[in-house]
Amino acid sequence: MIQFASKNIRFLNWVYEFPVLKYFFVVHIDRLRAIDSEKIIENFFRFLYVTDGPSKQTKQGRFATLNENAAKYLHDGEIKVHDVGVSNGITSLELNQYLAKMGKNAKLTISDKFSRFTVKKGRVTKVYDADNNLMFGYIFGAVASKNMKTFFISKWLFSMLERFSDGKDIYTISLFHPMVMNAIEANELKEIEYDIFTSKNACEYDFVRCMNVLNLGYFGSEMNVVGLRNLVDSLKENGLLLVGRTSQNGEQNATFYRKEQDRLKVLEHINAGTEIQHLAEII
Ligand SMILES: C[S@@+](CC[C@H](N)C(=O)[O-])C[C@H]1O[C@@H](n2cnc3c(N)ncnc32)[C@H](O)[C@@H]1O
Repeated sequence: MIQFASKNIRFLNWVYEFPVLKYFFVVHIDRLRAIDSEKIIENFFRFLYVTDGPSKQTKQGRFATLNENAAKYLHDGEIKVHDVGVSNGITSLELNQYLAKMGKNAKLTISDKFSRFTVKKGRVTKVYDADNNLMFGYIFGAVASKNMKTFFISKWLFSMLERFSDGKDIYTISLFHPMVMNAIEANELKEIEYDIFTSKNACEYDFVRCMNVLNLGYFGSEMNVVGLRNLVDSLKENGLLLVGRTSQNGEQNATFYRKEQDRLKVLEHINAGTEIQHLAEII
């Protein structure tokens, strides 16, 4: 099936409309790498949810205007940038290319807590996230996922899956875009491990971007404040922060902030601005 799919882009596009089918392909992502179709890659990430809430949805070109806005706030000389929660990282690559085109000397670091899954194969196939939480797997020829427990049968399948011990055939799959992997290998991008809620890197960056992670739909206010505080701590004094959310119609509702005396000063709201503006005021 994988061999057939890798030669049939239309078939893969169809498969990805169904989350249940898609999970089967996730564990074979490495064998699908050769497929040169941005639409396939986009669809692949569309309904893929990680265990603390967010989806891995992203899209080539979605931040073109935000990149232009960011460039005007960035000074000359070396700029340390951190793009947080990047999913497959394609928009980070675009940011890097845009800043270089604008003559900025940017060093871009990217991170996503869930940039890799671990697959454990045995009598059943089980897939774990970075926290070693079981996300989904195959049992009795059916998929059982943590996110699909609405029906009794999926709940039951998942509990059965949890009871099976792990297989010995263990491998890691990377969820970065093939072009992003190449850029990391070529040292154009640097990847770090980073959890927005727990990682610390004090006063390190000139620009931190965090799009579509600190959303009220994913995390409660308390968690969002913790995440936001961490981002602010990681900025140098006068550093630039961009947080926001992409709406269903593709519009970016985001806000650029400047870090001033450990507080956030609004520089510009894009469209409606970030939905966590009220939290940015109190941190
Ligand atoms: C919707 S995607 C955003 C991708 C990209 N920033 C964009 O807007 O196109 C959200 C990403 O946040 C990541 N994520 C979830 N929890 C995280 C955490 N605690 N720390 C860092 N990243 C996290 C997910 O793995 C997912 O790839």
